[in-house]
Amino acid sequence: MRSFADTLAAASGMAQDQIGQALHGVDGPVADAMRHAVKGGKGLRAFLVMESCRLHMRPIQQAAACAGGIEALHAYSLIHDDLPCMDDDDLRRGQPTVHRKWDEATAVLAGDALQALAFELVARAGSVDLLRAMTTAAGIRGMVGGQALDIAAETSDTALTIDQITQLQHGKTGALITWSATVGPVLDGADAAPFMAYGEAIGLAFQIWDDVLDVTGDAATVGKAVRKDAAAGKATFVSLLGLDGAKRRAQDLVTEACDALSSYGDDAETLKEAARFVIARGH
Ligand code: IPE
Ligand code: IPE
Ligand code: MG
Ligand code: MG
Ligand code: MG
Repeated sequence: MRSFADTLAAASGMAQDQIGQALHGVDGPVADAMRHAVKGGKGLRAFLVMESCRLHMRPIQQAAACAGGIEALHAYSLIHDDLPCMDDDDLRRGQPTVHRKWDEATAVLAGDALQALAFELVARAGSVDLLRAMTTAAGIRGMVGGQALDIAAETSDTALTIDQITQLQHGKTGALITWSATVGPVLDGADAAPFMAYGEAIGLAFQIWDDVLDVTGDAATVGKAVRKDAAAGKATFVSLLGLDGAKRRAQDLVTEACDALSSYGDDAETLKEAARFVIARGH
């Protein structure tokens, strides 16, 4: 049987192929920056798309287009997240960030173009419902909304409550992860509720673990700068609950995610493995 790491790598490769083909023959710094930005990720979102599609017997081409789309959208969110006006980071996936390797204008444009490409790729799946859900996940009710709360919290005089941090993290990270997990059922016209509950739980656990790694990880392994969140005044589960409290919350969320898929029995084993991976990973 294929290991989970291999399954993840295969999904990531498929997403990168889709993006690479879409950019075939396009020259210039912005296209080069786009290619740079989609390389080297773990591919968790692509995996969730591929696996939820496999469970719903969707054609591989349809799934691959959506996997490419979500990794393009994710890469855009990271390019902009790293900009000096946001988190101001120099390192991403062990490589210089786009604005460091090129410049800020190239980073803004590469992000914009990756977002547009994301919708182009997902449109190929032929479902307006799926495309609409992706626009919601990307926008002010989703990732951008969460990022806005994240940035606002840095300069807020009062600490955010647990509900406010949950809302922030559901937006900035949970929205794209949840969308990824629901692609299969949405394209199949099946009930998406279990996949939505699973996605929301691992989305939150994923961001909690990212915040844990900021405290416990080292830059060489994590592939990006660490020990930055507290200094920047970020509102995280770690800042509110401490390291142990945040880890316990993440563990509870993983249990919740696995329970959400109980009606799928053994078929959901790989998704459950993914949930456990989220809080076992070192990068
Ligand atoms: C990083 O996401 C940004 C967060 C939402 C925490 P990932 O940790 O999935 O990044 P890559 O794609 O593997 O680099
Ligand atoms: C970013 O969260 C989430 C996005 C929407 C990109 P972080 O700012 O914590 O992600 P990293 O730590 O830079 O990957
Ligand atoms: Mg950020
Ligand atoms: Mg960041
Ligand atoms: Mg982080």
